[in-house]
Parts: sequence; C-alpha cells; structure tokens
Amino acid sequence: MKLKDRVAIVTGTSPNIGGGIAEGLAAEGAAIVAVDANSANAKDCAAYINGSGGRAVGVTCDVTDEAQVKAAVAAAIAAFGKVDILVNNAAFFNKKGVIDMSFEEWNRQTGVILGGAFLFTKHACKAMIAQAMGGAVINIISTAGHQGEPGNIAYSTSKCGLLNFTRSAAMELVGSGIRVNSLTPTATDPDESFERAARWGRTVRRPESLDRVMKPFRSRIPMQKLPVPSDYGRAAVFLASDDAAMITGTDLRVDAGAIARYWAWDPTAGAAL
Ligand SMILES: NC(=O)c1ccc[n+]([C@@H]2O[C@H](COP(=O)([O-])OP(=O)(O)OC[C@H]3O[C@@H](n4cnc5c(N)ncnc54)[C@H](O)[C@@H]3O)[C@@H](O)[C@H]2O)c1
Repeated sequence: MKLKDRVAIVTGTSPNIGGGIAEGLAAEGAAIVAVDANSANAKDCAAYINGSGGRAVGVTCDVTDEAQVKAAVAAAIAAFGKVDILVNNAAFFNKKGVIDMSFEEWNRQTGVILGGAFLFTKHACKAMIAQAMGGAVINIISTAGHQGEPGNIAYSTSKCGLLNFTRSAAMELVGSGIRVNSLTPTATDPDESFERAARWGRTVRRPESLDRVMKPFRSRIPMQKLPVPSDYGRAAVFLASDDAAMITGTDLRVDAGAIARYWAWDPTAGAAL
C-alpha cells in the first residue's frame, strides 16, 4: 500500500478520469475526498470506494467558489484529520475558438480550470503547511495544453497555464515539503468510464457515433491504443507517493507518445517518414 494513511482530495470525480484517479489512489490505501459540483459524481464515487473496503466522503463544491473550496478542505479535515494529496482535475469542455467564444464563456472555462486549481491549491496547501508533514499536489493537464489546438481556445490556454502554475507553485512550496507536479492525459478510451459508471450503479448507453468520433485519435496515436483512466490513476499514485519523493515541478505525460510524435510522421505508415 503506497498511500496507506494518506488523505487525498480529488476534484471532478465523474466516472471518467477523476473517478479513475480516485479509485487508483484508494486502491493504494488513501482516504478519498471526492469533490464535484455535480453532487451525484461526488457521492457515487465516494459510495463506490466505501462499498469496496476503502474510506471516502463526497463533497458537493464548485471549485470557483472560494467559500465552498474552504468548506471542502474543512470537510476533509473533519472526516480524516488532515490533507496529504490534492488532485486538481475538475474541468469542462466547450470547444470554441477565439472568434466564436464570448468573454463570459472564456472567463467561466479559464475560471474553472485555472481558478479552481488556484483556489484548491491555496487552501489545501495552507492546511498542509499547518500540519507540517509536507504533501503532494497533482494538476491534470491535457495534450491540448502542449499544442496549438484550433477551436478550443480557453481549454488549451488554461491547460498550458496550469503547466507553469505547477512549476511556480512547486518553487513556492518546496520549502514546506510540498511537491507540485502535473499529469498529462490525452484522448482517453471511453469504455472504462462506461464500465465504471455501471459499477457505480448507473444506467449506461454507449453512443453509436463513438467509434467514428474516436477513430482519428486511435489511428494517430503512436502506441495505436488510447490510455484509460486507470492508467492515469497509477501515474497519480506514483506522483503522490514516496516513490516520487525527489520529483517536483515536472509534468508526467501518460499520452501513449502523443506529444513526442514528430508532426509529419503517420504512425500507421511504418517506422520512418
Ligand atoms: N477525457 C479526455 O479525453 C481528456 C483528455 C485530456 C485531459 N483530460 C482532463 O482530464 C480531466 C477530467 O476529464 P474527464 O474527461 O473525466 O471530464 P468529465 O467531464 O467526465 O469530468 C469532469 C468533472 O469535473 C466536474 N466539474 C466541472 N466544473 C466543475 C466545477 N466548477 N466545480 C467542481 N467540479 C466541476 C464535472 O461535474 C465532472 O464531474 C479534466 O481536467 C480534463 O481536462 C481529459
């Protein structure tokens, strides 16, 4: 058990990536505080972990509301006595470009992705500093934060900003023994999230268009296979654990080679250009 007796706050615990990370941390012994603006995502994640022998609470919280964020950190301490790990994962998708997006939409999306990570890092790390036992923060990026993606301006800009938020917070908090790293997922195989939703007691319908939508992602990824949320869960365990004791301010890409790919190379066309 790499995270025995640790307490982890995970934001955005849908049955997809946040749920996969929460279950991964719980499997290594961490108590989980599942935070989501959608109450069902907070409660169902916590209920599943409790039902499988772990320890968890679900907290309904909008990551952009500072009073709610403070209350969520207080709820973690009330339930489990401390906070050791924070995973800033909450986000939403709104695929619009700079011409089409309104300023209100820009402010809302950057507010959730960057502002939510700012608020949770601030208040969870204040608690970690008061405890004087160090800690680990993991910010969830996206391959869209490393590249210029058309028609996804607020998302890709926020995710890129989160990379340098990670480095800057890492430098600020290094003296307090708090390590701050990021984890970059990429287009994710959707089937594990359907299986997780079903395990959480939900009725799942797999959209007929899904295979068509996923086809370009599957064919252009170097490994010719997309990661699943539990792949990110294992990487988050590593970053949160003492195995990563000397790692701070870095980004761990769990992207099946997506960012390393030379732009002109077609992975289906053989080893060379
Ligand atoms: N799905 C992908 O292919 C993919 C790829 C790369 C990166 N990511 C990143 O992984 C993370 C999770 O993505 P996902 O696909 O699981 O998304 P998702 O939509 O399934 O889950 C996001 C969760 O965040 C919650 N949330 C949104 N706004 C919130 C707010 N204001 N306060 C609290 N909770 C809020 C939602 O309710 C939801 O439960 C995100 O950071 C996303 O950018 C996803």
